[in-house]
Amino acid sequence: MRNFKDYSEYDKKENWKVGSKLVHGAAGGDPLTGSVSFPIYQTATFRFRALGDSLGFDYTRCQNPTIEELERTIAMLEEGTEGFALSSGMAAVMCAFSILKPGDHIILSDDIYGGTYEIAQTVFVDNNIEKTFVDLSDLNKFKASIKPNTKMVFIETPTNPMMKVADIAEISKIAKEKGIVVAVDNTLLTPYYQKPLTLGADIVVHSATKYLEGHNDTIAGLVVVKDEKLGQAMRNFLKYQGACLAPLNAWLTLRGIKTLEVRMQRHNENTMKVAKWLRNHPKVKKVYYIGFEDHPNYEVTKKQCTGFGGMLSFEVDSKETALKVIEKVKMIVFAGSLGGVESLITYPMIVTHHEVPEDVREALGINERFLRLSVGIEDADDIIADLEQALK
Ligand SMILES: Cc1ncc(COP(=O)(O)O)c(C=O)c1O
Repeated sequence: MRNFKDYSEYDKKENWKVGSKLVHGAAGGDPLTGSVSFPIYQTATFRFRALGDSLGFDYTRCQNPTIEELERTIAMLEEGTEGFALSSGMAAVMCAFSILKPGDHIILSDDIYGGTYEIAQTVFVDNNIEKTFVDLSDLNKFKASIKPNTKMVFIETPTNPMMKVADIAEISKIAKEKGIVVAVDNTLLTPYYQKPLTLGADIVVHSATKYLEGHNDTIAGLVVVKDEKLGQAMRNFLKYQGACLAPLNAWLTLRGIKTLEVRMQRHNENTMKVAKWLRNHPKVKKVYYIGFEDHPNYEVTKKQCTGFGGMLSFEVDSKETALKVIEKVKMIVFAGSLGGVESLITYPMIVTHHEVPEDVREALGINERFLRLSVGIEDADDIIADLEQALK
């Protein structure tokens, strides 16, 4: 019988294309039993054969084979050295922030995910961590916001919901010179379309709840690093905060990852069609979508991403139209998440960004006429038909 820690099969995957790596994961099944589907090791603890003699696992909060398979899979996909599976995307964000100490300064994308914004407004204040929200699609603004005590820049790219794109390589180059850690929330594009660590970032964060798991049925978070010291800090956070992912949720995430390539390709294709259709609708004033050639950051997108993903936002002619759309959609679901197989529409002003002060929200463009659409993998014609009847 082989040992769990025998990963010789894994090494053979180096030359595989990404679609094959996604389907097979890191270990390619259960090294112990040969089970093709990696088993769910639903256990809290592991038997010691003798003092100091185990199969490498002792307690699920610290290690578990199913969780480890997910951690090794995401590390392989993001081209990092170590992955960490956490109970939610928020836990993953907090894990990245755990290296900040009182007196440190952090720079964050200005229209960051609402939950991350809340962390900045509460946890950072309580812990005397200084913060600056910056439009990171503008390198000059980023440079101007750096202070002697800047410890981290936290990038979301594209941002959500305004779909601004930051140049990860250029920001990383500048940050490196100043000893600033670069963390990227890669939830929206996933390693299938964007690999921040290969562009110079130090930490990648995921709400795996979204595209990685992909089915709107699990909450999960992932972190990947390429530096040993950062890895130790992430592991300590996970262990001491007790923010581990449950084995079942790790398995659901692994199962979702198997189909990431086909799902992302379909999201990408559908979103392009829907974005183009929306743009020509008389009641739609503006469509925010990174796949448009006239998007202000299109060149950066083309340089650092291999696809445009499944997200878009749009502004309609009035608040009444916006409210009517969320009330009248039939197949598209009015719900506050993204990245799953079902198309979801949301009203960011109330649902995702209610904690953001009105003046900040308005300045970003998140107004009462603004809607965000996570384009699912249904037939694009049906998504368009649903929007058409809802916009009537
Ligand atoms: C970009 C982004 N990061 C992090 C999170 C938080 O993830 P979770 O909801 O899995 O805790 C979300 C959730 O919507 C998100 O959209």
